[in-house]
Amino acid sequence: MFKITRLEEKARKFIPLTAYGLLLAMVQCAGGAEISRGPYVQCATPNSVVIVWRTTSPTAPSVRVGKSLESLGQQVGGEAITMRVSADVDAPENVPRLYKEPAEEANKRDPNEDDPSTVPGTYQYEAHVEQLEPATRYFYGVFDGEHRLAGGDAQHYFETSPVRGSKADLRIWVVGDSGTGEHDQKEVHRAMQEYTQETKRELDLYLHVGDMAYGDGTDVQFQRNFFDIYQPTLRHTVCWPTMGNHEGYTSRGISGFGPYYDSYVVPTAAEAGGLASGTEAYYSFDIADVHFVCLDSHDLDRTPDGAMARWLVADLEEAQGNWLIAFWHHPPYTKGSHDSDKEGQLIEMRTHIMPILEASGVDIVLTGHSHIYERSMLIDGAYATPTVAEGVVVDDGDGHPQGDGPYRKSEGLNPHEGTVSIVTGHGGASLSRRGTMPIMREIIVEHGSVILDIKGDTLTGTMVNKNTVERDVFGIVKRGKVKVTHLDNPWQPIHDLSEITVFRMAWQDVTTGQTPADWSVVRGSRGTLTVEASGEKKQLAVHSEAEAVIALYKDFDDYIGEYETRFEFSADSPSPAGLVFAFQDPQNYYAYRLSAKSKTGEMVRCVNGIEVVMASRPIDVDFEKPIKVEIEPLKKLIEVQLNDDLEYSVKLDEPLPPGKLGVMAGAGSEANYQYLAIQRGGP
Ligand SMILES: [Fe+2]
Repeated sequence: MFKITRLEEKARKFIPLTAYGLLLAMVQCAGGAEISRGPYVQCATPNSVVIVWRTTSPTAPSVRVGKSLESLGQQVGGEAITMRVSADVDAPENVPRLYKEPAEEANKRDPNEDDPSTVPGTYQYEAHVEQLEPATRYFYGVFDGEHRLAGGDAQHYFETSPVRGSKADLRIWVVGDSGTGEHDQKEVHRAMQEYTQETKRELDLYLHVGDMAYGDGTDVQFQRNFFDIYQPTLRHTVCWPTMGNHEGYTSRGISGFGPYYDSYVVPTAAEAGGLASGTEAYYSFDIADVHFVCLDSHDLDRTPDGAMARWLVADLEEAQGNWLIAFWHHPPYTKGSHDSDKEGQLIEMRTHIMPILEASGVDIVLTGHSHIYERSMLIDGAYATPTVAEGVVVDDGDGHPQGDGPYRKSEGLNPHEGTVSIVTGHGGASLSRRGTMPIMREIIVEHGSVILDIKGDTLTGTMVNKNTVERDVFGIVKRGKVKVTHLDNPWQPIHDLSEITVFRMAWQDVTTGQTPADWSVVRGSRGTLTVEASGEKKQLAVHSEAEAVIALYKDFDDYIGEYETRFEFSADSPSPAGLVFAFQDPQNYYAYRLSAKSKTGEMVRCVNGIEVVMASRPIDVDFEKPIKVEIEPLKKLIEVQLNDDLEYSVKLDEPLPPGKLGVMAGAGSEANYQYLAIQRGGP
């Protein structure tokens, strides 16, 4: 069972460093420390900013700030710098610690697996730079005593926010589900950089809608899959984050404890406007004429009586400005790699949270989790399950300024005039689509990100794909007083299967050469399983150490991208218990493996013979339909649970003995074999 029980409050309160800082200044040798993360900017307000960086040894930290590179005249140090250290560092008790894996989790982990704790010897500094002028560009450098560690050059700058209520233009970058550290993520980032250069407008802020550090949001994964990729942007643009389920493997919203919370400094006490939430898990802030709300859809109470919803109601009562933008991880409307008609967190955000936001006039809802780009028409009141378009669309045009024209809303924040919901989970992770959400105007299965431009009464949203091509543009104009009509029979997207990730399978029995129309479990039989996905055929079989794969095919129309199957394998080989499935190309495969040795399930990807364990964890994550695994000859059932990214995980109480493994599943019925999925590409 994966659970962090150490509910240690992360000390966000101000820790004076005067005495300790003096001590450090005495013991350290300037020039020896190296930057291991950052520097990057956080929590910008009209008059302040937080600059964060890490070093590999103690320093006498300071930041020097100025309007020109030649005169970084404002020095920030001493009590204005909060320090956090990794658990191994010998520091006074009042110095807050960075994430360390709770002992009970560490005891269960295979020693061969990576420790998710913060890299030993880490010093994190958070410099609170204040008394700044609004909407002003400052350059900065980070110092260890007199020795400059970073910055002091043209790349290290930040801009304070425009004053609240001002009509300043804003450019916002929105990315989700990016944290693979691989090619597509880098291309999406590069495309944004190219696009901002071509359009001659830099970003003002960056919203990340979660899953920024696959697979488990560990400290090392944050470094490799978030900071290392985005550092050229992060050093001058604030990323305002929300936690995804992958970060949720090591971080907890209820405690504010974990590598996700170590990585960011976000407002808890209305430092940047809004209403104080008292937690970093959800928060609000104001920039110019926009009120932003960040929610935690992953691991907190999503019901109307929960603390988060009650805070949201109170926050929105006070909200001012012309625009309201909300963001979180689990989308209220999607048929991408996730289905908002079927998954609990998504349904709850739709039925409980959307009514609160729409009653306060929300304009844009940004989410990820589902690895796709989906952008809605102007909708209002779409809370039912399953989502239908009838009666909940207030403008069924394409919203394109040169097409049907931008969506129209009244000036200011007015209840129930329409929302555009955008799933932007296409920032790097492998893409898929399982259906057609009827309220969506654009459904695009390509990697990319979203740029929102706000100029006075007009908002323009642009989806820029990884090749720097504008793939969708829509606008909202808020002017005068608009009459709202809910359309009985709105336009709806055609349920076009051509882009949907459909896995078609055929089984050919080696002995008979036949392909049965209906498959059933044939224990011990051998053959080839062909899986066809989006026109691509793959041979599917068990690993060489397995005996056979027996697949049971059922209803494709209902469960696109999923199929029912049963696997068997032999465990009497020297390697860990066995491989459940793999693409039958010894150099390139994607597989799930049970490891008896480490008592975990592992997602494995092999590219050109190089095998990478994508995820390995002894967890069981809540999912509606747990899968039972039968171990023969023990006749024992163990539980396999599918997490909401369709990865399998297994809880093993004892090493798996040699034998066979069958996978059965079903909502309470062991007779039904179902709900195993294969995704295109990696997780
Ligand atoms: Fe996710």
